[in-house]
Amino acid sequence: MKTETTPKMTVLHAPVGVRSIVSSLVAFFIVASSATFLLDRGQEAQVQMAVEHGRQEMQVKVEAGLQEPAMRGTTDAGDAGEQECNWSRGRWVFDNMSRPLYSGLKCTFIFPEVACDKYGRKDIMYQHWRWQPHGCDLPRFDATKLLEKLRNKRLVFVGDSVNRNQWVSLVCMVEASIPDDRLKTRIFNGSLISFKALEYNATIDFYWSPLLVESNSDNPIIHRVEYRIIRADRIEKHASVWRDADIIVFNSYLWWRKQKDDMRMKVMYGSFEDGDARLDEMEMIDGFEIALKKLTEWLGENIDKNKTRIFFAGSSPTHSWASNWGGEDSNKCLNETEPIYKVGYKAATTDYSLMAKAKSYFKTLEPKGIHVQILNITELSDYRKDGHPTVFRRQFVPLTKEQIADPASYADCTHWCLPGVPDVWNEFLYGYLMYK
Ligand SMILES: *[C@@H]1O[C@H](CO)[C@@H](O)[C@H](O)[C@H]1NC(C)=O
Ligand SMILES: *[C@@H]1O[C@H](CO)[C@@H](O)[C@H](O)[C@H]1NC(C)=O
Ligand SMILES: *[C@@H]1O[C@H](CO)[C@@H](O)[C@H](O)[C@H]1NC(C)=O
Ligand SMILES: *[C@@H]1O[C@H](CO)[C@@H](O)[C@H](O)[C@H]1NC(C)=O
Ligand SMILES: *[C@@H]1O[C@H](CO)[C@@H](O)[C@H](O)[C@H]1NC(C)=O
Ligand SMILES: *[C@@H]1O[C@H](CO)[C@@H](O)[C@H](O)[C@H]1NC(C)=O
Ligand SMILES: *[C@@H]1O[C@H](CO)[C@@H](O)[C@H](O)[C@H]1NC(C)=O
Repeated sequence: MKTETTPKMTVLHAPVGVRSIVSSLVAFFIVASSATFLLDRGQEAQVQMAVEHGRQEMQVKVEAGLQEPAMRGTTDAGDAGEQECNWSRGRWVFDNMSRPLYSGLKCTFIFPEVACDKYGRKDIMYQHWRWQPHGCDLPRFDATKLLEKLRNKRLVFVGDSVNRNQWVSLVCMVEASIPDDRLKTRIFNGSLISFKALEYNATIDFYWSPLLVESNSDNPIIHRVEYRIIRADRIEKHASVWRDADIIVFNSYLWWRKQKDDMRMKVMYGSFEDGDARLDEMEMIDGFEIALKKLTEWLGENIDKNKTRIFFAGSSPTHSWASNWGGEDSNKCLNETEPIYKVGYKAATTDYSLMAKAKSYFKTLEPKGIHVQILNITELSDYRKDGHPTVFRRQFVPLTKEQIADPASYADCTHWCLPGVPDVWNEFLYGYLMYK
């Protein structure tokens, strides 16, 4: 559907990049005042992201704190490299000896949004599950080996707040092995958050880019929720950030899901500068294909396959609809303390088709020798209705009593408590990097 160029489109040209205290404050109020409204619409991902960056924007700082060595698994054999085995098929095993892999309370760089035990979650069984693939073990995670692998290299996570959740997890998994505070840093710089292990000159970054191509949601603080516009042919601004990376982990899923039945994606072609701007409107899923197409094209033309390894993290399911497992929808995932045990469980609300789409686009790169490895973590995460922060998290300030008593509006069943489920996603990543 083609529409005329209208002033509405100037949203793309709003001074979203303005870096001033004033704009941050304005953003704070926009975000704070719309939080309830957005949560009502299931926009947890966006709210979380916006709230967090509202707090952290403008900070370019170096932080560090007390450490203790990582607690490590005792049962994993690290034999997965030698045999063919499908890591995505398996089960959760209660294992309070080898899990968790680190202490969330002691992780210097954890974010309060996912630090569940710190913010009042009393049941901690969720930290004690190990993913056990059928027929093999995942390689045992060894932070020092990973840092050695990343020596003089840069790993960058590119995507939305769930991908940032995975980034925080990896940083916590790694930083516990660096007891000396002077040897690790974390720097916030707009859309980029950078962790460095100085002794190794190893960098682990997160870059905010929820829709992969350029969009009106690229500002980590100020982004439209209902009115999303992507730019079909623009990715260079983002790509310039990951172009030189040695390892890239993309994700993109939640932002393409419909929040309302009539939600559609606006797609802009051309530009105002060139006088050929054109705006289309389409199904969200068709927008995803446009973004995938552009990303795939860019990778095909620009990636140095001898240097860069590329991953795409699978769709991360949410557990906002308790009726999926026989619960009460108004509670969302609050008070869930155990995984779903039903073998082969796939939530009706989890869309497995987006990953299949992504895979088919990335396949077209194979003839060029470029392989995009999918981290297929969807089903294993689908079992984990117990893994989310719900009301045990902090945004700007702790949730009020009233908010805590209102899970339907305030329970976050999208992101994941740490230590927790994303640690396993990173065990996959580790396994591929070290052994495959
Ligand atoms: C792993 O198993 C899943 C589920 O059966 C399947 O979709 C996927 O293609 C398998 N992956 C590999 C690499 O065999
Ligand atoms: C681990 O869990 C078992 C069974 O619940 C319990 O008996 C044991 O005390 C726990 N061990 C630790 C170290 O928490
Ligand atoms: C440090 O790592 C970066 C990649 O993040 C690399 O470009 C640079 O050459 C490394 N420095 C040294 C001294 O090797
Ligand atoms: C922040 O990022 C900008 C580019 O986006 C760069 O020019 C600047 O040097 C960065 N600042 C720090 C402190 O890394
Ligand atoms: C990549 O490696 C292959 C084999 O080692 C080599 O022939 C090729 O020139 C390399 N390509 C680039 C772009 O460096
Ligand atoms: C959740 O558990 C707490 C503590 O056991 C209880 O007070 C509360 O009523 C429960 N909430 C729901 C919605 O079941
Ligand atoms: C991922 O694994 C699930 C089963 O765990 C399977 O249904 C799905 O097809 C797989 N997706 C991809 C893209 O391989």
